[in-house]
Amino acid sequence: MPYPHVLLSAAVSLDGYLDDTGPERLLLSSPADFDRVDEVRASVDAILVGAGTIRADNPRLLVNSPGRRAARVADGLPEYPLKVTVSGSGDLDPTARFWHTGGEKVLYTTDKGAERARALGIAADVVPLGDALDWRRVLEHLHDARGVRRLMVEGGGRIHTQLMTEGLADEIQLVLAPLFVGDPDAPRLFGPGAYQGGRLRLVETRPIGDVVLMRYEPTAPGTGPLPSAADRHWLALACELAARCPPSETAFSVGAVVVAADGTELARGHSREGDDPVVHAEEAALAKADPTDPRLAGATVYSSLEPCARRASRPAPCARLILDAGVRRVVTAWREPDTFVTDADGSAVLAEGGATVVVLPEFEQLAKAPNAHLLGG
Ligand SMILES: NC(=O)c1ccc[n+]([C@@H]2O[C@H](COP(=O)([O-])OP(=O)(O)OC[C@H]3O[C@@H](n4cnc5c(N)ncnc54)[C@H](OP(=O)(O)O)[C@@H]3O)[C@@H](O)[C@H]2O)c1
Ligand SMILES: [Zn+2]
Repeated sequence: MPYPHVLLSAAVSLDGYLDDTGPERLLLSSPADFDRVDEVRASVDAILVGAGTIRADNPRLLVNSPGRRAARVADGLPEYPLKVTVSGSGDLDPTARFWHTGGEKVLYTTDKGAERARALGIAADVVPLGDALDWRRVLEHLHDARGVRRLMVEGGGRIHTQLMTEGLADEIQLVLAPLFVGDPDAPRLFGPGAYQGGRLRLVETRPIGDVVLMRYEPTAPGTGPLPSAADRHWLALACELAARCPPSETAFSVGAVVVAADGTELARGHSREGDDPVVHAEEAALAKADPTDPRLAGATVYSSLEPCARRASRPAPCARLILDAGVRRVVTAWREPDTFVTDADGSAVLAEGGATVVVLPEFEQLAKAPNAHLLGG
């Protein structure tokens, strides 16, 4: 289930448009910003655009700097990042520059679209994904079959909108250009939809000539059993907290974070925190939250280890404390082994109480690291 880190990159006018309706692409960025984009491209494994952008702009999507390309090769990477596009129809221009410049190309499409693309002689690895295109399958395939760890998405609006509404974008790099488009028929960056992500975290602002770069990260937990990009962020934080626990020969080191549905952090904690030599991470975190806070009902608890189902040191195990707090979603990195209790099954206790438990195995190693001495060979 691991996905690449997904970075959405776009430039918009002050009134939120990606382009005008003229035949030429509207240049929104400054020359210095185009160079920054080139640098970002050089840092990723793959660049993705939608079929609409190939039709509208006929882009090459290259790393233009010879120095950056040489540095990639010196690092053992292909000279150019993989170029990726998605199309439902498969109705693509086989002479477009996208196919004939740079390195390898992949087209993700439907079964019908694949037939069409092959008939047109599209020069790419054509990957059919059934009747409809599922973004999670695209990301999984890029990660597992193509080794993509960082994916830069350069539009257009429909692609950006889907990745944001499905909670799959890890980062937005948005450049605001000081001009207006003013044409309601022009393409917008983000269209209507049920957006995930909550109130985004602003991680950087940078003036570049006359434009401003803003970098944002989503904060809101996923809903239900499907992990969102923000889920990965919060679980990574829980793993970081686990690494800060005072070491112990008789208990695991665990970190926990409680996050409201809108992405607000409500509390965090870690094992043996403060003066309490036996406190568990989830217990320590929940003790800091206001028990009457209505946001707990929609919150997610991130715990680097599956919450415990049984413990000798306290009357209530963490799975019970979580349910009693009203929380109904838990994200964790690994299931508790039988090191200290037999048949540890916090997930079953949580599920019986009506909570959804999501396990993200790509964090297992990170979560286990501070516990290596307890886990034997
Ligand atoms: N300012 C910027 O930073 C920037 C960057 C990029 C693009 N742009 C502008 O954005 C405009 C293009 O945006 P756009 O929204 O029209 O096009 P787009 O997002 O690039 O591509 C949309 C196309 O992608 C395919 N697609 C999207 N989602 C799909 C799904 N779930 N399943 C299957 N296929 C899917 C479809 O192709 P098929 O039609 O083949 O089925 C769809 O028509 C252009 O005007 C361009 O200049 C601006
Ligand atoms: Zn516990």
